[in-house]
Amino acid sequence: MMEPLEFTFGACKSFIRFEDSVKLSDMTSRKDTVTVFDLNTYSLFGKDTSNPVVLNPGESSKCWQSVEKIIRKAVHSGLGRDGVIIGVGGGVICDLASFSASIYMRGCRLVLIPTSLLAMVDAAIGGKTGININSYKNMAGTFYPAEEICLFIKAIKSLPFREYKAGLAEAIKTAMIGDADLFNLLSEKIHEIMDRQPQILKEIIHRCIIVKGRVVEQDFREAGKRAILNLGHTFAHALEAVSGFKHWNHGEAVAWGLAKAVELGERIGVTEKGYAHSVKKILSDYEYRLETGGSISASELIQAMHADKKKRGGMMRLVIQRGICDTFLEHIEDGQIRAILS
Ligand code: GLY
Repeated sequence: MMEPLEFTFGACKSFIRFEDSVKLSDMTSRKDTVTVFDLNTYSLFGKDTSNPVVLNPGESSKCWQSVEKIIRKAVHSGLGRDGVIIGVGGGVICDLASFSASIYMRGCRLVLIPTSLLAMVDAAIGGKTGININSYKNMAGTFYPAEEICLFIKAIKSLPFREYKAGLAEAIKTAMIGDADLFNLLSEKIHEIMDRQPQILKEIIHRCIIVKGRVVEQDFREAGKRAILNLGHTFAHALEAVSGFKHWNHGEAVAWGLAKAVELGERIGVTEKGYAHSVKKILSDYEYRLETGGSISASELIQAMHADKKKRGGMMRLVIQRGICDTFLEHIEDGQIRAILS
């Protein structure tokens, strides 16, 4: 059994527990809860839930209409401020449930039960909430950590393989930012990891949460250091937007974005020799696509990157690495970005 983790995010504490089995009905059948599922997680875990909200799976649900549905359900169920909104699902459901909890009666209690690897290592941890506006990701949101996050590693077995790999890309990113031993583990145990062996998954998730939790504890509202967690993400969000959120899922776009981030670091002459190669090797070993193919132009991507919220003034500020666990933010001219995208 893994030890529970505890972090202080802003004024709130988040407890993170690893469970071998979760009796969700014990939590969700209480009258003072509203539980948010997607169709997939509802069919797996929704039985006996008192006030369920069931949304379509996928990024298109991450919108105002879903938030309104959750809040209407809370109002109709008589949920008070001391009631709990529970999110059971991947990143979309965690972000939506968290955003809704943060604004319902100016903030009610929040519990998350992430069921995807991506949500376990990233979306559920650290209190970022959000919805998309048109094709722009997370354009409206708040900082609102869950008081409790319950990790049921066995849920990962039920994920489609492509979605599982999307989470692995975030794990690779987290290792690059803060855990060289995890990077080595991910490089060396590809077979066991692709096979989703629970023991190694537990270790990966535990280590990722520690890296992310420590960064967020230092900078909950992303005034500075937290932005390093966006390594590869300005590239990734642009690719997702330009391809209409269809051909690349978030993790696949992040894997591509990580490759571009290290190429950019090399191009501007700050990244140590061999590092970009080692990053691209691990990404290739996990069979991520590192090229977009001919159909997407550098200009389209750069325009979408400018629309991303990490822009300050005219020049983009991107996350760059000198090497593993050595990450910083730098203003970059469009010409440098065009050179690696062309
Ligand atoms: N996913 C990046 C962050 O939580 O800051």
